[in-house]
Amino acid sequence: MDHDVKNTVTIASAKDTTGFALYAGSVVCSECHKDIYDSAIHTQHYLTTRPASAEYIKGSFEQGKNFYAYAFNIVVAMEKSDSGFFEVGYFNGVAGISKRIDIVVGSGAKGQTYITRHKNKLYQLPVSYFTSAHNWANSPEYPTHPVIFNRPITSRCLECHTTYVEQIPTPNHSQEEFSQNIIYGIDCEKCHGPGAKHVAYQTQNPKNTISKYIINPAKFTRQQSLDLCGLCHGGKLDKTKPSFMFVSGDKLSDYFQKSTLTVDSADIDVHGNQLGLLSISKCFRNNTAMTCITCHSSHENERGNIELFSQRCIACHNNRQNHTCKMSNEIGSAIKENCIDCHMPLRPSKTITELLPGNAKPTAALIRSHHIAIYPKETKKILDIFKLNKYGGDKHGALK
Ligand code: HEC
Ligand code: HEC
Ligand code: HEC
Ligand code: HEC
Ligand code: HEC
Ligand code: HEC
Ligand code: HEC
Repeated sequence: MDHDVKNTVTIASAKDTTGFALYAGSVVCSECHKDIYDSAIHTQHYLTTRPASAEYIKGSFEQGKNFYAYAFNIVVAMEKSDSGFFEVGYFNGVAGISKRIDIVVGSGAKGQTYITRHKNKLYQLPVSYFTSAHNWANSPEYPTHPVIFNRPITSRCLECHTTYVEQIPTPNHSQEEFSQNIIYGIDCEKCHGPGAKHVAYQTQNPKNTISKYIINPAKFTRQQSLDLCGLCHGGKLDKTKPSFMFVSGDKLSDYFQKSTLTVDSADIDVHGNQLGLLSISKCFRNNTAMTCITCHSSHENERGNIELFSQRCIACHNNRQNHTCKMSNEIGSAIKENCIDCHMPLRPSKTITELLPGNAKPTAALIRSHHIAIYPKETKKILDIFKLNKYGGDKHGALK
């Protein structure tokens, strides 16, 4: 079954204001917004959850590279057959438990983890993929003994990594259940709201170039714009309403309680809290318009293009406004290519960490700090790299 294309069966009840039937799926949007679609499918947002396939699973299934050893006699192997991709547990060389990979979570920029479905319940599998090591690893915060295959996946996890998943009502305190009605990835309708009505209207009125029934975040207030991105990039939030009720344009505080937002940058994890870190930066506090989309494009993958991002800094920090870098003379012309490594250094994440084969301690993924500030130690390091790179520098960031 192709989960990418929304099927026409309507299960959602009339009471459900964000039900599956209200979504069209981005394949439908592509009929009229082809350029945006063609570019958006290469973003990490789109790729952050996909149905399992060879195209999307990053790790190797090749003999000799396809396993993670928990102990000399306890191994989980990654195997493929005609019926799909599997994580298979071996004890003393004998295959035991075997679970199919149904959903891939993570674009693979940093890593991926895998979900298996048993009836209507979803579980995270023990072996994940860690991109910086190009290797299989133990899933984050998983025990190494015993090896577990049954950690439940919750709606909160899916709310940040998919556009919509239809939940099946279950009694309180029992494990959540999900139907096959899933809109994978952070797709068009996460930011533009459910689009079936827009599609129906524009299809019936093909000559009408004025749109209806769709949300354009370009028209948002600053707070609405920040709330949309803050849904997933605002650190740990406790929900006060069921998952998937928040629609782009809504007030985040109507759906979530900010439990752990503090103003001390040391306390805010760099994983998933770009909003918290940006909020304590002078750029953000002393400018009344800055949002995430001041620097980030909504439909394009610009990852690694440090020079382009630096141009966006310079748009505000130019001579006219006299907010230029005090290091300009010392750095010389190379400064135009990289404001980022000195003022938004890479920092180890506290939560995206994985245990690699043979290591005693987990390895952390490196994440850009959004606390834009002055970092003397980083500056020294970067100045040295600039000097090394003087003849044939690398414009994609000194640290990449
Ligand atoms: C049958 C053609 C058609 C389809 C399918 C379609 N749109 Fe549109 N859309 C239009 C037209 C026409 C406009 C108005 C002209 C423009 O802005 O391009 C528009 C405008 C928009 C706008 C800008 C609205 C504004 O207020 O400025 C957004 C956002 C949008 N569409 C998103 C989507 C999404 C998301 C989907 C898929 C769920 C989708 N569209 C599917 C035809 C379509
Ligand atoms: C529903 C959750 C969700 C929303 C809403 C969301 N994001 Fe994301 N975003 C993610 C996830 C998850 C990832 C990591 C995807 C991956 O690599 O698997 C991500 C990744 C990113 C990245 C890294 C991509 C790169 O190329 O380096 C940027 C930048 C980003 N988001 C910006 C935004 C902005 C700006 C908004 C608001 C307009 C936003 N996000 C809204 C969940 C979300
Ligand atoms: C992460 C959020 C996000 C996702 C996902 C997203 N958009 Fe947008 N989109 C925006 C924002 C924000 C704007 C307005 C400002 C801008 O262009 O950055 C916008 C603007 C638009 C517009 C108005 C015309 C324009 O270019 O300004 C259209 C049409 C549109 N998006 C269609 C789509 C379609 C189709 C998809 C899926 C293939 C999609 N968007 C995915 C956030 C998103
Ligand atoms: C509050 C929103 C949120 C929740 C809840 C959440 N994530 Fe994430 N996740 C993110 C964001 C945002 C990123 C991108 C990393 C970053 O830059 O902060 C990410 C990154 C990841 C990545 C790495 C992707 C890559 O290649 O870059 C994986 C894998 C992942 N999450 C899995 C999960 C799983 C599994 C769950 C549930 C147990 C979960 N996440 C819960 C927001 C969330
Ligand atoms: C929308 C405009 C805007 C953008 C874009 C912007 N800044 Fe700023 N930035 C400001 C303002 C305003 C201040 C505060 C100046 C003041 O009043 O001292 C500031 C302050 C700073 C400071 C001083 C911080 C401190 O703690 O003393 C640094 C460093 C800085 N910005 C670097 C950057 C970098 C690097 C980028 C790009 C990643 C960037 N800025 C993007 C507006 C902006
Ligand atoms: C090699 C590291 C490095 C690079 C590259 C760099 N900066 Fe700086 N920047 C610094 C340091 C260190 C300071 C503090 C200098 C001081 O106070 O004497 C600073 C200060 C600043 C300030 C505060 C100025 C003030 O009046 O207080 C701004 C704004 C700024 N930088 C912006 C930028 C922008 C924009 C870029 C890219 C065009 C950039 N920086 C590139 C290291 C760097
Ligand atoms: C002043 C510019 C600026 C603003 C504003 C900004 N970012 Fe970023 N962001 C960057 C730069 C530069 C990078 C690094 C890009 C790269 O390495 O490809 C980045 C990277 C990211 C990443 C990827 C982190 C990683 O290390 O993989 C995410 C996620 C992200 N931003 C989300 C956001 C969100 C959400 C907001 C709003 C709360 C935001 N950004 C506001 C400049 C900005």
